[in-house]
Amino acid sequence: MPMVWSNSFSIGVEAIDKQHQELFKRTNQLLEACQQGRGKEAVSKTLTFLEDYVNTHFSYEESLMQKYAYPEFTAHQNLHREFTQSLLKLKQEAQNNIGLSLVTQVNKFVVDWWINHITKVDKKLGAFLSEKMK
Ligand SMILES: [Fe+2]
Ligand SMILES: [Fe+2]
Repeated sequence: MPMVWSNSFSIGVEAIDKQHQELFKRTNQLLEACQQGRGKEAVSKTLTFLEDYVNTHFSYEESLMQKYAYPEFTAHQNLHREFTQSLLKLKQEAQNNIGLSLVTQVNKFVVDWWINHITKVDKKLGAFLSEKMK
C-alpha cells in the first residue's frame, strides 16, 4: 500500500512536515519498484535515493533537537540510528532476493516505522519545537 499523506501526519513544524512528505514519496517509489518486480539495480537505486534523504532528514531533526536542548534527544537519535541500520539490512537483502518478501519487509520495516515514528516520536518533538520556535 502506498503511503498517503494526510494532515494527521502533521507535527506542527512546516519544514519537518515537508521533509516527511518527501520521505513518503521516496518510500512509495521503493515500494513500486519492489512490487513491479523491477531488477536489483532499480530497487537498490530507489533504496539509495531514500537513504540519502533519510540522512538529510534525521540530521535536520537532530540539529533542531540540539539547538533547543530537547530533553529526549538521545532516545530519539537512537531510534533514527536503528532505522538507518534496518535500511542497511534491507539493502543487503535486496541484493539477494527481490520479490514478495522484500515488499513485505519494506512495508514492515519502512512504512510501519514511518507511521509509528512520525505519529508518536516526531509529534512529541513537534509539540516541543512549536513552543520553542514561536
Ligand atoms: Fe522525522
Ligand atoms: Fe524523528
